Amino acid sequence: TSAMYTGAVGAGGLPRAELDGLAGELARVHELVTRRRQGGLDAEYASLNLHEELPKSLTAIEAEAARLRAFADVVVIGIGGSNLGAMAVLQALAHGDRKPDTPRLHFLDNIDPDFLHDLLARLDSARTAVVAISKSGGTVETAVQYLVLRDWLRRTRGPSARDHQWIVTDPQQGWLRALARDEGLAALPVPPRVGGRYSVLTAVGLLPLAAAGVDIRGLLEGATASAARCDAPQAGTNPALEMAALYFLLHTRRNKRVSVLMPYIHSLRLFGDWYRQLWAESLGKRRADGTPAGTLPVPALGAVDQHSQLQMYLESPRDLMFAFIALDAWAHRIDVPLDDASRAAFPFLDGRALHDVLDAEFRATRQVITDYGHPNLTITLPQLDAHVLGQLIDLYQRATIYAGLLYGIDPLDQPAVESGKRLAIAHLRGEAKGP
Ligand code: PA5
Repeated sequence: TSAMYTGAVGAGGLPRAELDGLAGELARVHELVTRRRQGGLDAEYASLNLHEELPKSLTAIEAEAARLRAFADVVVIGIGGSNLGAMAVLQALAHGDRKPDTPRLHFLDNIDPDFLHDLLARLDSARTAVVAISKSGGTVETAVQYLVLRDWLRRTRGPSARDHQWIVTDPQQGWLRALARDEGLAALPVPPRVGGRYSVLTAVGLLPLAAAGVDIRGLLEGATASAARCDAPQAGTNPALEMAALYFLLHTRRNKRVSVLMPYIHSLRLFGDWYRQLWAESLGKRRADGTPAGTLPVPALGAVDQHSQLQMYLESPRDLMFAFIALDAWAHRIDVPLDDASRAAFPFLDGRALHDVLDAEFRATRQVITDYGHPNLTITLPQLDAHVLGQLIDLYQRATIYAGLLYGIDPLDQPAVESGKRLAIAHLRGEAKGP
C-alpha cells in the first residue's frame, strides 16, 4: 500500500552517480531534521511529529466534528495553509460529493462580496455552522469574512448564534483566541510550532474533514507509515530525501527552475494547489549567496492539460521538470460501451475501460515529455484512500523541509508574505506610501 516513485534517475534524468555524490550532504540534512524534530509538539520541526502527537487530540476533534454534523451546511473560513489542505483532501476522497448524514462544506478564502452575498442568500442560518480557522488568529481576509458571518448569525439567531460557531487557532494568542475565550465559543488549538502550510494534519484540516466524514485516523496512519519509511539517512531508502535531492540537483545543476506536478487523477486537482503553496512559500527564498532557492511549482492535471499547456511544456525553454502521480487501482471500472457504429469509429476502444484510456494518455504524455528532454518522476499510488493520501501529504511535507535545508534556507518562515500582510494593513489605515 505504499506510494512508489520511479524515473528521474537514469535515462533522461540524473546519473545515479550524481545523486550518490550528494550522500554526505543528505546525511547532514537528515541528521539536522532528526535533531530539530526532537521534543514532540514543542520541537522546532513539530510538523514532522504530527502523526505521533495528533492521535492524542483526536477524541476532542472528533467530538467537535460530531457536533458539526448536526448542521446541514458548514462554512469553513480560512486562507492559505488554513484551508488548502482540507480542500485538497476533501476533493481527493469525497470527489466533491457529500457523504450521507454529513454537512455540506463551503470554503471561504478569497474576499468576494458578490460570492459571499449569494452564499448567504442560499443558506438557512438555523442549519448553518461557521468554522473560523487561522493559526495566527488575525489574518485580515479570514477576520473580515468571519465578522460578516458572525453578524449574520447574531442577527438571525440571536443569543444562540454562539452555538453555531467554532474557532481553530493558537491556544493562547491572537484576536480569534481572545474572542473564543470572551464569548465562550467552541475552540480547538493549532500547535504553535506547526507552520500554516504544514498544518493539514492538525485540527486545521482534521476538524472540517472529520465533519465531512473523512477517515482522519486513516490519514494519520498513512502519515505514520510514510514517516517510518523516511527514517533512513540515504536517498535510496528514504523517499522524501530522494525526492528533495532530485529536485535540488535538477535545479542547481541542470537549471530546471520550474517543477510541474501533474496527477493523472482528477480528484487530485486541488492537491496541486496544496503542493504549490507548500513548495512556493517554503522554498521561494534567497540563498546566502543571493541565488534563488526553490523551483517554481506549477500544478497541472492530466489529461486536461494535454489540451492546454502541453504544447508549451514540450517546446518551451528546457527549464522544466515533472512529477506525475498515477493510480494503480481505481475503485470503479467503467467499460466503454460500444455499439457497431462507435466500434467502427473507435476500433481501438474495443474491450477497454475508462481507466485504460487515461492510462494510455498518461504513458503517451510521459513518453513525449521524456523525448523532449524533460526529466520526470512518477509517483504511483496503489489506490486512493485516506491512508495513501496521508502518505503523500507526509512525503511532500518532509521533502519540502529536506529541500529547504539542502538550499540552506528556512523552509518554515515566509518573511516576504508577512511584509505584504503588514502593508495591506497600512493601506487600510491610510498610512501606506507608494502605488
Ligand atoms: O503557511 C502559512 O503560514 C500561510 O500561508 C498561512 O497559512 C496563511 O497566511 C494564513 O494564516 P493564518 O492561518 O494565520 O490565518
